[in-house]
Amino acid sequence: MNSLEKIDKNNIPQHIAIIMDGNGRWAKKQGQERLYGHSIGVEAVRESINACLSMGVKYLTLYTFSTENWNRPKDEVDGIMNLLVQTISNELELLNSHQTGLIVIGDEEGLPDSCRDELNEAKEYLSKNNKLYLVLALNYSARWEIKNAIKNISEQVKDGKINSKEITDELISNELCTKNIPDPELIIRTSGEHRISNFLLWQLAYSELYFTEVLWPDFKEEDLYLAVTNFQSRERRFGQTSEQII
Ligand code: IPE
Ligand code: IPE
Ligand code: MG
Repeated sequence: MNSLEKIDKNNIPQHIAIIMDGNGRWAKKQGQERLYGHSIGVEAVRESINACLSMGVKYLTLYTFSTENWNRPKDEVDGIMNLLVQTISNELELLNSHQTGLIVIGDEEGLPDSCRDELNEAKEYLSKNNKLYLVLALNYSARWEIKNAIKNISEQVKDGKINSKEITDELISNELCTKNIPDPELIIRTSGEHRISNFLLWQLAYSELYFTEVLWPDFKEEDLYLAVTNFQSRERRFGQTSEQII
């Protein structure tokens, strides 16, 4: 029995989010530039998409570029943006043949024009697809997202459109970039780092966290099946006792 067959098809997370980390360290180990690690990381993205399609996962969110990543050397930032444009263009037909839609979360206004244009074209081209949604977190940070939500909600209160008593969890969720996307049941971080790095802070309230030592460019379909198998072994209690759930 291979690892896909071991997975319980009745308990597949609808939404998996991945902090793709370790490209730089992977490249260094090969005696290569950091950008080489990012380019090989694209292969791990393909592997993850294939695994999600095989399992029937509906949303795959990939932390691709954080608002803090602008602080990296200019060459690396430029290289990542170019790679993004190239990759989206190269993968478009494959994504379409897999009936995969594209969603972007993050501050798209702050991206280079070439990148924003490519993303908009791709979103439009893939807009009828609904088997899997690939959600790219780009120029994203959770504090930026929450700050915007607070600004929007306070404007609505100021304009008398809502009363502050009407501010519910649901209302806040609807002001986030992930509006209409279920919270991720499973968050994975590669490369052995045990932190969240400003990712989906509101949405991860009850996510299961899974950390693996595997560096992102080495991440294979099999690694995603392992993560889901581990997820399925957990008891999600949401504040209740074990006895209450069984
Ligand atoms: C993740 O790999 C990719 C991005 C953050 C864009 P890193 O580039 O962070 O790789 P390490 O952590 O330096 O090894
Ligand atoms: C988080 O990785 C951001 C992305 C994966 C895009 P980083 O490598 O930037 O995170 P830190 O700096 O190690 O926390
Ligand atoms: Mg890193």
